Amino acid sequence: MTYVVTEGCIKCKYQDCVIVCPVMCFHEAPEIVVIDPDVCVDCDLCVEYCPTKAIKRDEDLAPHEQIFLGLNRELSRLWPVIENKGVVPSDADAWAGVPDKIKYLTQLE
Ligand code: SF4
Ligand code: F3S
Repeated sequence: MTYVVTEGCIKCKYQDCVIVCPVMCFHEAPEIVVIDPDVCVDCDLCVEYCPTKAIKRDEDLAPHEQIFLGLNRELSRLWPVIENKGVVPSDADAWAGVPDKIKYLTQLE
C-alpha cells in the first residue's frame, strides 16, 4: 500500500502535507507534489492536512484517479525531495476545486 497525491494538488500546492511527513517522501514538481511510494510508511498523517483532500490511499483511488499511482512514482524519480514548506502559489485558492486539472501538468508534455 502507499499514499498517492491526486488531482486536487495540481496548481494548488499548499504544502501543509510536507511539514507533517515523518520520512520526507514528498517530491516537488512544478505544478504538483508527489509521494515516493517506496519511502512512504503509510502513516496517514498527511491526509487531513491537505486543504484540497488530494492525498488518498492507493486502494481508495477512483478509476479515473488510477493514473496518479504511476504518476507519483514517475515524478518522484524526476523531481527533488521537498523538505520544508515553500511559497504557496498566489492563485492557489482559485484553482482549488477546479476539475480536470491533469492537463495542466506541463512536466508530462
Ligand atoms: Fe508521509 Fe505518512 Fe503521508 Fe506517507 S502517509 S506521505 S509517510 S505523511
Ligand atoms: Fe498538494 Fe495538498 Fe500537499 S495541495 S502540496 S497535497 S497539502
